[in-house]
Amino acid sequence: MRAKITIEFDKPVARINPSIYGHFAEHIGTCVYEGLWVGPESPIPNRNGLRVDVIDALKKIHPPVLRWPGGCFADDYHWQDGIGPREARPRRLNAHWDAEESNEFGTHEFFELCSQLKCEPYICGNLGSGTVKEMRDWLEYMNSERDTSLTRLRAENGSPDPFGVLYFGIGNENWGCGGNLTPSFYAQEVRRYATFASLAGGNFLFKIACGANSDDYDWTREFFNVMAGSAIHYNRLNLVNGFALHYYCGTAGTATEYTKDQWYQLFAQALRMEQIVLTHRQVMDHFDPHRQMWLVVDEWGTWHPPMTGTNPRWVKQQNTIRDALVAALTLDIFNRHADIVFMANIAQIANVLQSMVLTDGPQMLLTPTYHVYEMYSPHQGAQALKMQVETKAVPYAPTLGTTALPPVPHVAGSCSRKGATITLSLVNTHATDATEVELIWHGEGNLTPTTWRVLATPDIHSCNTFEQPENAIPQDQDVGSIGDVFTLAPASVNVIQYALQN
Ligand code: AHR
Repeated sequence: MRAKITIEFDKPVARINPSIYGHFAEHIGTCVYEGLWVGPESPIPNRNGLRVDVIDALKKIHPPVLRWPGGCFADDYHWQDGIGPREARPRRLNAHWDAEESNEFGTHEFFELCSQLKCEPYICGNLGSGTVKEMRDWLEYMNSERDTSLTRLRAENGSPDPFGVLYFGIGNENWGCGGNLTPSFYAQEVRRYATFASLAGGNFLFKIACGANSDDYDWTREFFNVMAGSAIHYNRLNLVNGFALHYYCGTAGTATEYTKDQWYQLFAQALRMEQIVLTHRQVMDHFDPHRQMWLVVDEWGTWHPPMTGTNPRWVKQQNTIRDALVAALTLDIFNRHADIVFMANIAQIANVLQSMVLTDGPQMLLTPTYHVYEMYSPHQGAQALKMQVETKAVPYAPTLGTTALPPVPHVAGSCSRKGATITLSLVNTHATDATEVELIWHGEGNLTPTTWRVLATPDIHSCNTFEQPENAIPQDQDVGSIGDVFTLAPASVNVIQYALQN
């Protein structure tokens, strides 16, 4: 089986916004507490309470943006609980995720985290159970340069300078855990909340409204209808800059036990992402033809049954080479559609769902998904290139009763260019068969392959464990075998870089 790939390296589609490689940290399970934050008194090595091993590992994947504090948690979070002396902060019930919330990790700790990671903060505000005043006060507290009681309080709490939040969410999943609102009621609320968020939000605030649950195009249509207003002078689409849908691909099998058919089925579920983003953009275009509002995917990833022995509501799951391929296939979709996807945040950064790292007390491991983020990081900020793949679909038997799924291509990928460096990512989805690829390049100049990194494992169930943390790690491969035709290992993620000489 041979796949034919045509790439036009002089035809950029759009810049791949680094934010497409964004992350998400919620107060759920051991994501924030233990995964990121251990506190300054912890025996686990930390810098200002943040664990050194995790932060140092995450820095290597260059996280561009981090969304916090939720998720469902965001619409039940009251920011004033998380400021001031830690020992005096109230203990609350984290009702969504079956936990006690100490509020030890709050606004200032989050900005410390972003500063250590060198990433842009993305705060999700509380529309579901908060008030307009509470939201605008949080923004004044975080962003205002004026001398007010709230900014004095910020200074007393250790931060005289404003934090300069750029990305701000107006609620989360308000069609569900964020209040079970209808799209039209939510849109009315957004008109109100976004008005006051803008007033208190500093110079420019990129406001992100809650978008649809996967392919719920009705939500999108009704939301935009209300934002657009019944007459042109009621149009308030410009109050919001981003519209954020969520799409998880539920499991096929379990996190670590699956058949070959389930291996492919999960890819098909993940690949639905492409149609979902394209159709949402189409619906948005009807109301926003000049594309002033961006599409954001601020939660996505695999969702498997939880690890044995863990609280099921803490959604901690193992992560295998199959999850790595899901990450690669999805990032390739975002790269290919860099003209419409502004930001994407995989769920979540530590110990929850498709995470980058797993921790257990003082131990930490890097998941196969982490390695994909590290391998794909050269795509961040590069120009996506036009690429066409001719390949066969892999035959498999999906579980009966699943939503209509797209075919699973034997080979998929994306390509980008940053100056004279071209980065080509390719996934061979086949569980057992290697595949030849034939590359046809169109453009001015000569290309020389410089690096080829491969993430592949002998077993399609391989994962990293604390005992064997390097079962699934990328290997360098000899670029000498890369010609017009070369072979991709089965079940592999490949990143090849080329130097372009004119
Ligand atoms: O990521 C876990 C949860 O999934 C989030 O809190 C919620 O927004 C989504 O349903």
